[in-house]
Amino acid sequence: MSESNLKSMADIASLCKRRGFIFQSSEVYGGLGSCWDYGPLGVELKQNVKNSWWKAMTYRPDIEGLDASILMHPQVWQASGHIDGFSDPLVDCKECKSRFREDNIDVTKPCTNCGAKDSFTEPRDFNLMFSTQMGAVEDDSSKVYLRPETAQGIFVNFINVQQTMRKKLPFGIAQIGKAFRNEITPGNFIFRTREFEQMEMQFFVKPGTQKEAMEKWKEIRYQWHLDNGLRPEMLKWVPHPDDKLAHYADAATDIEYNFPMGWGEMEGVHSRTDFDLKQHQEHSGKNLTYVDQADGNKKYLPYVIETSVGCDRALLAILCDAYRVENEGEKDERTVLKLHPKMAPIKVAVMPLMKKAPLVEIADKLVAEIQQSYKVEYDVAGSIGKRYRRQDEIGTPYCITIDYDTLEDNSVTIRDRDTMTQERIAIDKLDTYLREKLKF
Ligand code: GAP
Repeated sequence: MSESNLKSMADIASLCKRRGFIFQSSEVYGGLGSCWDYGPLGVELKQNVKNSWWKAMTYRPDIEGLDASILMHPQVWQASGHIDGFSDPLVDCKECKSRFREDNIDVTKPCTNCGAKDSFTEPRDFNLMFSTQMGAVEDDSSKVYLRPETAQGIFVNFINVQQTMRKKLPFGIAQIGKAFRNEITPGNFIFRTREFEQMEMQFFVKPGTQKEAMEKWKEIRYQWHLDNGLRPEMLKWVPHPDDKLAHYADAATDIEYNFPMGWGEMEGVHSRTDFDLKQHQEHSGKNLTYVDQADGNKKYLPYVIETSVGCDRALLAILCDAYRVENEGEKDERTVLKLHPKMAPIKVAVMPLMKKAPLVEIADKLVAEIQQSYKVEYDVAGSIGKRYRRQDEIGTPYCITIDYDTLEDNSVTIRDRDTMTQERIAIDKLDTYLREKLKF
């Protein structure tokens, strides 16, 4: 049997639309640039990605969860450096008015959009934060920003969490939430969008111990992607060279995934020093120091190791990695998403052979039982072969068929997505069978 991988982002975007994973935002109005809506299967998959991260990152004694608001005091962004420094150098074509990131084009060449020569403006800094107004009066004092990263919500809550939860260093705070960036060159489906979700964790450590903490978190985060089913050969580390480090970091490295358009950043692990806490302490005038009882009540600002992964990018990598076309061009060609079962939006499909009593009654009963533990789809339309293919395309690991033999032997056929083998299982053994197979 031949098997090929995903060749282009268009294939995955088309499957996502056709099968209800991801739609363009406001599609009926012609769409809104680089904003996407997760459909019924997409939202399940996204929830699975988040659950996997939340469980890995917060079901441990040294990390607490948080859900900070998207709108924050404007001074947060002054302190963090985003108002002055969160910008990309932008050039405009004077002819067609297209905008480019200066580092993405050769300004000595013609415009890639209209072909005009010597048409580029001088580069200028373009701040990537979206701003809006808070309250009824529109003046400068009411200007607030949509957060461009979730991390600052964690920094400004450091003392709240440390004191209320009586945490001792080292400990972390984790959160999942929306972030917004007015990207100049978004694209590649959901890879770079203007509204996205981040899953970030700040791990607070004693100064001087940041190197070993960073090594530990690098290992844990890499393993998380492997545990989600990504193939090791599709992942690599790309350290940031010293001269390219962000203003807040003393070390940084990315986990890249081999997307169809090439290698791209999926997660960053950053050693952020005490930059953020120091800035917030200075700008707010509040004391954010930690009192180290284990070290003679010494007072200091902790250093921070940050792990930051885009939920949408991790999800995109999971989809790209799982995509296979078997026996391409042959009569028995099938497209299958070989998702790790914990990521599969639908765990079990229940299919009565015919839309007739008493098969349908048995199927209904089975759905009601199984959905107490797993997301189930009831599928009664079309031939069994077609129904299997549809479930393969959305990555459902198991299909259960109820046929006329079921009436005799109280058993069903269960079919495995990857091997396509079928087994006969007694209905009263199904629960144990699924529990064993869907253990994660
Ligand atoms: N707090 C650190 C921080 O925000 P970042 O490297 O700018 O660091 C972290 O972003 C992660 O967020 C990236 O690795 C990526 O997965 C995701 N991300 C950033 N910008 C994105 C965008 N425009 N669209 C989708 N995901 C994005």
